[in-house]
Amino acid sequence: MNDVKKYLDKEGGQVAVFDATNTTRERRETILNFAEQNGYKVFFVESVCEDPDVIETNIVQVKLGSPDYSDCNNDEAISDFLKRIECYQNTYEPLDEVSDRDLSFIKIMDVGRRYLVNHVLDHIQSKIVYYLMNIHITPRSIYLCRHGESDLNLKGRIGGDSGLSLRGKQFASSLGEFIQEQNIRDLKVWTSQMKRTIQTAEALKVPYEQWKILNEIDAGVCEEMMYEEIQKNYPAEFALRDQDKYRYRYPKGESYEDLVQRLEPAIMELERQENVLVICHQAVMRCLLAYFLDKTAEELPYLKCPLHTVLKLTPVAYGCKVESIFLNIEAVNTHREKPENVDISRPPEEALVTVPAHQ
Ligand code: F6P
Repeated sequence: MNDVKKYLDKEGGQVAVFDATNTTRERRETILNFAEQNGYKVFFVESVCEDPDVIETNIVQVKLGSPDYSDCNNDEAISDFLKRIECYQNTYEPLDEVSDRDLSFIKIMDVGRRYLVNHVLDHIQSKIVYYLMNIHITPRSIYLCRHGESDLNLKGRIGGDSGLSLRGKQFASSLGEFIQEQNIRDLKVWTSQMKRTIQTAEALKVPYEQWKILNEIDAGVCEEMMYEEIQKNYPAEFALRDQDKYRYRYPKGESYEDLVQRLEPAIMELERQENVLVICHQAVMRCLLAYFLDKTAEELPYLKCPLHTVLKLTPVAYGCKVESIFLNIEAVNTHREKPENVDISRPPEEALVTVPAHQ
């Protein structure tokens, strides 16, 4: 437990997850005592699955790839793992509605058929409950892309609410063909409330839903400027953004950190839905991608989300498979890498060295 404390102190953060395979009532007591002495609250999550089909699918999808079973065929691995489950069952002492009534926990039966939620203490715990009650394991894919190239993209200007360029319109119709070819069951299409995503969705000729919270990051006083103009007018701001792009907030605008918060309801709804195509924006797509691919705050603002490229995300055990599909319509590059020199007193040419070419 001392190592656990050292780890938590070093890592910081608000939530830590312990794997409790083989847990007994006594082990739960140990964790609770440790938490109480160190100022942590404990929320137990127990998943009880008695549906044989779900168990078998889980073994095939999750366990067969593990090194333990590299030399076995499917049937051997399944029968071995079922024996393992029996051993776990012998040791594991489930949470009990009566004797554990003072503990905070959720018991999930048969991957979400039923739940028992007990003694939720605070906001974080209720969010954990909300999250666990909204996720599902039905196979599906999430398709992420940006709007087609816009007039302001061509000019190297950020933000604004311009319409699509000629190539942007070509992308929109290619996207329509791509989606048709994919023949996706009950596909939902979401856009932001900005002209460029709506124009892109219109070309698909299918119903779509507009979400204000999917609008692009608000660049405040820098809206519609070129990166070169931001450097000229606000050189210190430009350097500060390069120093900490995730936390930097544009004057009168937003930071990536703000955007992540703003997007939370959309992310939760994506968890609930099955097949969805989200037509969004560079910064928004980075945030969604970072969530599904578990990227850090440092990586997030530099994830590559080029125009005219669809990313197909398919949840698999412990992660997401990613396929990147470029729809073969050229577009301007809008990705600016972090420059080497992020000092406030840097010369302009060093601040602008990574600005992508534009009109
Ligand atoms: O340039 C296109 C754009 O979507 C802008 O509207 C937005 O401000 C920008 O990308 C976000 O990218 P970055 O955070 O890298 O400037």
